[in-house]
Amino acid sequence: MIKDTHKILALPGDGIGQEVMDATLEVLDFLNTRESLGIELKILSVGGASYDEHGTPLTETALDEAKKSSAILFGAVGAPKYDNLAWDKRPEHALLTLRKELNLFANLRPAFLFNELAGASSLKPEIIKDLDILIVRELTGGLYFGEPRGINENESPKRAFNTMVYNEIEINRIAKVAFESAAKRKNKVCSVDKANVLEVSKFWREQVTKLHAKDFKDQHLSHMLADNAAMQLVINPNQFDVILASNLFGDILSDIAATLTGSIGMLPSASLNENNVGMYEPCHGSAPDIAGQGIANPLAMILSMSMAMRYSLNLDSLADRIDNSVKVFVMNGGRTKDIASGAPYLKTHEVAKEIIQILS
Ligand code: IPM
Ligand code: MG
Repeated sequence: MIKDTHKILALPGDGIGQEVMDATLEVLDFLNTRESLGIELKILSVGGASYDEHGTPLTETALDEAKKSSAILFGAVGAPKYDNLAWDKRPEHALLTLRKELNLFANLRPAFLFNELAGASSLKPEIIKDLDILIVRELTGGLYFGEPRGINENESPKRAFNTMVYNEIEINRIAKVAFESAAKRKNKVCSVDKANVLEVSKFWREQVTKLHAKDFKDQHLSHMLADNAAMQLVINPNQFDVILASNLFGDILSDIAATLTGSIGMLPSASLNENNVGMYEPCHGSAPDIAGQGIANPLAMILSMSMAMRYSLNLDSLADRIDNSVKVFVMNGGRTKDIASGAPYLKTHEVAKEIIQILS
């Protein structure tokens, strides 16, 4: 299949997903025109919005388009009104299907602090200052996808079960991403597991250790039990550079890490496959409580779009400029409601205008 390298699919989703996507696409549209990027953009519904329109959270058309694109910008999905639907109709199902179908096994979740916003963190400024962590989470295996899984209603007592399973290929490829990411940072990888209890973790630790000895000896590798890692993130987050984790542990630790910055509305993420096709989404969710008010912070979505430029379109210098425009915005006192600590703030689309202004 010949792939148009500049095909981007936008899936705004639900709640504030729509609002932050609109703002981000304003910025993308500006760059596309001014820099003649030749980006071909398609926008389709996903999650609850797709369920309302088509009776499914992810249509065949959306999945096909996703498979044909170099990058997918994903807003957020979910709202309380969908909570009682069957699992395959739920908004979250779309997310997991896209991850699995596109083989997006490598989830990069940076957690960094804008020092200007240190006051928004629940940690003391001296502990959180200069925070810059990258969580590399395995995204298509482990407990989320392991078989067998199910609920046996007919047994007595009734029983439910999931399987945590990893093979050596899955562990090696995600560990490689972690080491390669660390090589562009501080050369430190901390691999998280529960090797004191779980066979799958013991195996994970052995594989990571072997790969390190074979190909990444110049990097510093440590291992940490997941419960301790959760505690260390809160006590002394700056000891970490890259954290490597399985699907479940990475899910939990990345929420802790994001929250530390006090502004989950600022953090982007990338989910990549072996060909650097990626899905890019903010760490925050659909935030039904503030949806529709135009006050959501679009910076995480804008930074996610920047990650798409960097990882899937090879437009590194453009990505640097977008990241920098967000820094300048914050340094100049630009605030949205979530990070304003009661001071005046800009609405979602006003942020896009400001970012465009800085980029101009
Ligand atoms: C995340 C989310 C998802 C996950 C949910 C919405 C399925 O928490 O991306 O971290 O558990 O992976
Ligand atoms: Mg999560």
